[in-house]
Amino acid sequence: MYHKTLLSPLKLTDTLTLKNRMIKSPQSTMYWDDDYFMSDRVIDFYESIAKGGVGLIILAGILWYPAHPGGIYGALYDDKYLPGMKKFVERMHRHGCPVFCQFHHTGPSSPSDDKGGRPFGPSRLEQEEMASPLPYLHATRELTLEEIEEHKRRYIDAAVRAKEAGFDGVEVHAAHGYFLASFLSRVWNRRTDQYGIQSFENRTRLMVEIIDGIRERCGEDFPVGVRINGEEYGAKGAMTLEESREIAKILDKKGVCYISVSGYGFGPLPMTYVPDYFPYPEPEDYMKPYMDRYRGDGVYAYCAEEIKKVVNAPVVAVGRMDENKAERILSRGKADLIALGRTLWADPEFPNKVRDGRIDDIVRCTRCATCEDPPRGARRCRVNPAMGRETELEIKPAATFRKVMVIGGGPAGMECARVASLRGHHVTLVEKASRLGGRLFLASMIKGSDVEDVKPVIKYLTRQITERSGVDLRLNTKGTVELVAKERPDVVVVATGGTYALPDVPGIRRWNVQGVKTMSKLAALPLRVLGPDRLNELTRLMLPLGSRITIIGGQIEGIQGAVFLKKRGKNVAVLETSDHIGEGIPPRYMERAADWLKKKEVPISTGVTLQFIDKEGVHYRDDQGRECFRKSDFVLVLTRQTPEHALADSLRTIVPEVHVIGSANGAASSLIVHAIAEGRAMGVNL
Ligand SMILES: Cc1cc2nc3c(=O)[nH]c(=O)nc-3n(C[C@H](O)[C@H](O)[C@H](O)COP(=O)(O)O)c2cc1C
Repeated sequence: MYHKTLLSPLKLTDTLTLKNRMIKSPQSTMYWDDDYFMSDRVIDFYESIAKGGVGLIILAGILWYPAHPGGIYGALYDDKYLPGMKKFVERMHRHGCPVFCQFHHTGPSSPSDDKGGRPFGPSRLEQEEMASPLPYLHATRELTLEEIEEHKRRYIDAAVRAKEAGFDGVEVHAAHGYFLASFLSRVWNRRTDQYGIQSFENRTRLMVEIIDGIRERCGEDFPVGVRINGEEYGAKGAMTLEESREIAKILDKKGVCYISVSGYGFGPLPMTYVPDYFPYPEPEDYMKPYMDRYRGDGVYAYCAEEIKKVVNAPVVAVGRMDENKAERILSRGKADLIALGRTLWADPEFPNKVRDGRIDDIVRCTRCATCEDPPRGARRCRVNPAMGRETELEIKPAATFRKVMVIGGGPAGMECARVASLRGHHVTLVEKASRLGGRLFLASMIKGSDVEDVKPVIKYLTRQITERSGVDLRLNTKGTVELVAKERPDVVVVATGGTYALPDVPGIRRWNVQGVKTMSKLAALPLRVLGPDRLNELTRLMLPLGSRITIIGGQIEGIQGAVFLKKRGKNVAVLETSDHIGEGIPPRYMERAADWLKKKEVPISTGVTLQFIDKEGVHYRDDQGRECFRKSDFVLVLTRQTPEHALADSLRTIVPEVHVIGSANGAASSLIVHAIAEGRAMGVNL
């Protein structure tokens, strides 16, 4: 058995044994009803995780105190939340999955307190005393001893309710700059009283009193786990590993059932409120020392390892885990449990697939950061369109089996064909190229795979089509009116992609101006022969496009293209006709890309009007109407896609039902997240 340790049980307490070492890492889903009530959406979502075979679920973001906007969090500060929570727990238990409840309050990291005043924390801090200039950190006010007492009482009351609701335990959240974390860290805690920073006993006092209180009211055997930062980064006074080890020792003595080790970074940077690091386009200099860890077991795993050396309680490691990394960490005794966040968002069935050795069928998180976009919106996953839409997008047998032809083997077409076939339809997938994947190969080459990695999407969908479904795959076949007339399907789904139209500007057809269409054609053979990663590397050595390149288009295609070219030493500028840039790039990436391009002195001009292009370069007017010229060896048009409905329209007279999905519908459907979601929705509705 390859993942023996990962799949082995672990006795957490005398009454609770986990069937494997995998824990659903707590993550806010933002699927709650208004006023923090449990929703079917939360239940359906976590049920998919429970069914998938994870050893323990931690339900994230449960408030013990009425604060924060509804919808984002759940609550247990009142008995009125008990019925919903009971229903939730019962549904998880149906699948033999224990569930803990993680209590949450953003504390000093909130924008304000519930009355609109300063957010509360251990100490009064002005903005300039803050750890970082990040806009999400606000001046705080100091909690009085009476208020601390009140929060403690409410926290413990909420834990009592959690027990009543049937939760198997609770997780005390003392990580990520939130309420309890702020008492542990010098960054926030400047108190001098019994909750002050001067001793470990004092800084952990509130957390320990809460744990004691929960034990007293819920019973000694009621499991209490704790999540802490193994290390904080990027601020004066940030908690060191030495400090967190001392804190862990105190927790261990208290008999907590596990210590979950995360981390936290203060801006301008990485690992902020959602603890991960996205070194796109490049890691900052100060992060370079951490990059080996990032590429190895993960940025925080070493903290778990160090903490494990000084405690007896099981230690949880987290961060960008896969089954091999997890097994390596566990089998080398660096941690006892592995928390999986986005891994299970991408594929709730991950634990069962690992158990059954169905490794190639795992849907991999591609680190696209779509789940954080928008930061305060209901979570969605690029590769798992059913996340948060489990009922709506469930794959059920079709009422009548039909003859379906899908034209186009990109992500939209593949997902649609896969799902339709699983539902029992007779599906033919027609692709003009000699392999599946469409433009994903080019996207993968441009993006690289250091941070975001698109290749697993191609691999997974291709395998599902070729080996796991009954799809009749026709490669090297163009979806034409003639073919459709001959095959006579009941329904055609057109997923052939949109058009990368060239702007109507004099000189646009010159040899020194090219768009995505030509670039795709040129890259097709090298991509085929070398693959995206090697071609990405090779273009660092050789990219014969001249040295001064002007990109027309400042949205996802143009910005990612600019990063790609700048990394290859080109002198790049971006011209965008609208007044904004970065459309389609999750904020997590865009913030960094914009900053990086600025530092690298890549000019980005918005609101430009293109005049004409000649052999010298691009003539345009800037947003003030001034005549401008950019000398260019090469002009690359990387504008957004426009809809392409010609094929669909010509099929409507010969097929009773024709649909268009993915980027053939234009820019708003052009990202991988749209393509897969539209493919899935079409597949389940045929
Ligand atoms: C969108 C998002 C929301 C999160 N919300 C929480 C949370 O409410 N509580 C918490 O302790 N951690 C939260 N986390 C951190 C995760 O639990 C986990 O530590 C992190 O995602 C790294 O693990 P992964 O690489 O397996 O996703 C969140 C992470 C993400 C990406």
